[in-house]
Amino acid sequence: MATVVTEPQTSKIPIKQTKILIDNKWVPSVSGKTFDTINPATGQVLASVAEADAADVDLAVKAARKAFHSKAHWRRMSASERGKLINRLADLIEKNADELATLESLDNGKPKHVAAAADLPLVIACYRYYAGWADKIQGKTIPISGDYFCYTRHEPVGVVGQIIPWNFPLLMQAWKLAPALACGNTVVLKVAEQTPLSALRVGELILEAGFPEGVVNILPGYGPTAGGAIARHMDIDKVAFTGSTEVGHLIMKAAADTNLKRVTLELGGKSPNIVFADADMNEAVEGSHFALFFNQGQCCCAGSRVFVEEKVYDEFVSRSTERAKRRVVGNPLDKKTEQGPQVDKDQFDKVLGYVESGKKEGAKLQCGGERIGEHGYFVAPTVFADVKDDMKIAQEEIFGPVMSILKFKDMDELVDRANKTIYGLAAAVWTRDIGKAHHIANNVRAGTVWVNCFDVFDAAAPFGGFKQSGLGRELGEYGLQQYSEIKTVTVKL
Ligand code: NAI
Ligand code: MG
Repeated sequence: MATVVTEPQTSKIPIKQTKILIDNKWVPSVSGKTFDTINPATGQVLASVAEADAADVDLAVKAARKAFHSKAHWRRMSASERGKLINRLADLIEKNADELATLESLDNGKPKHVAAAADLPLVIACYRYYAGWADKIQGKTIPISGDYFCYTRHEPVGVVGQIIPWNFPLLMQAWKLAPALACGNTVVLKVAEQTPLSALRVGELILEAGFPEGVVNILPGYGPTAGGAIARHMDIDKVAFTGSTEVGHLIMKAAADTNLKRVTLELGGKSPNIVFADADMNEAVEGSHFALFFNQGQCCCAGSRVFVEEKVYDEFVSRSTERAKRRVVGNPLDKKTEQGPQVDKDQFDKVLGYVESGKKEGAKLQCGGERIGEHGYFVAPTVFADVKDDMKIAQEEIFGPVMSILKFKDMDELVDRANKTIYGLAAAVWTRDIGKAHHIANNVRAGTVWVNCFDVFDAAAPFGGFKQSGLGRELGEYGLQQYSEIKTVTVKL
């Protein structure tokens, strides 16, 4: 049984912003409605936040459209000036990193020291990386037949709608805003209803950095209402979504039914994490533990199907179980805490539902499987062994601290089994054999493959899914393509 370090408590940091950001002004919702965001460690209300709906989305789109006008300040600004603004935002986030890490921890439940050491540095690096791209986005000159001068321009798409989830609120905001702004778009961003606070604080820093009116609009609100209004809006040129595969289908359908806005999707996963008998077992056990349990198991790329070679299966199961039992669950503001609560009651119930399903379908519960404490949404680190390919816990995204371990005999059987899923976000392989590593890397259908490591993220390396894990790539130079239109210009000489 994991140890609860202390009773979780809410820290006393002031919550500075709970309104909607439209046209560089903080406004209440048109309806006057608000909703509560809670601290999942205690179940208590942290703040009441303005609840955006279709009318607010309309106002935000108008502001973003005006800011995108060819005569508007943002469009006339030089590309390097755009880069400077994004760099200024990165500096301000760095200056306020401790406050932002606290907000992230309170609203989401992730340990504050993890937010400070992992999320914030990645956020800052992402803005800096794309700030550097702003004045390096360029087309080509093309030698077409005849006496013509032909060239391409990489232009912004226009008004971009962005919808982000709650598992990495600041980081998902950065992955969305940074490339969109570097390319010169204007943005209407909807934050997740579970975690609006850190993104709104960044909104204040966006104003402080000096972005022109209407370039970035930030709306807290619910999915079917505010999110749906973005997906269906006739004057939004592109929608970028991160969240469930189920809602990904709705977004694409809404785009198809309205104005064929461009769609990029970063969706769910059921990523295979493959351990060969020749792997460094210390690294494989610890790495696989991290791959699954990091961020309370709430990662789209979690290594949630652990395939272990027969010869080391028993050893791996017992060591992984022992490691999960040692995982420190408790107060997210405590430095010793490895795991906080699930983000809300829905997710908590969903995770415990999968535990029941695993037991019912005959997987072997090694440890965990129950709630910890009486306050908040803490789930004990859980390990299932003897999981079979067609069990629900091996097919569906659990998004919680539940590890499923499966056995394999040889590599041919393995690749087919690893690919037997609707998803294709990530995969990992643990081995000392370079041939096996490359065979897996080449044959697993996934957007990212990690060899002897997991969750190595960098703003320069693209990320996204094969199959129903998504459409398009975020980050890196590839990420710029999702926020640009290519224009061909041909001049008669
Ligand atoms: P979700 O997909 O409903 O929510 C993600 C975002 O989409 C939020 O901002 C939400 O308000 C918005 N949204 C919801 N319905 C919408 C709609 N009809 N139109 C437009 N926007 C909409 O995910 P939820 O309910 O928070 O979590 C359910 C499951 O989704 C999780 O258990 C997990 O399996 C998966 N998920 C995957 C994430 C990832 O990183 N790929 C992130 C969050 C959830
Ligand atoms: Mg919350």
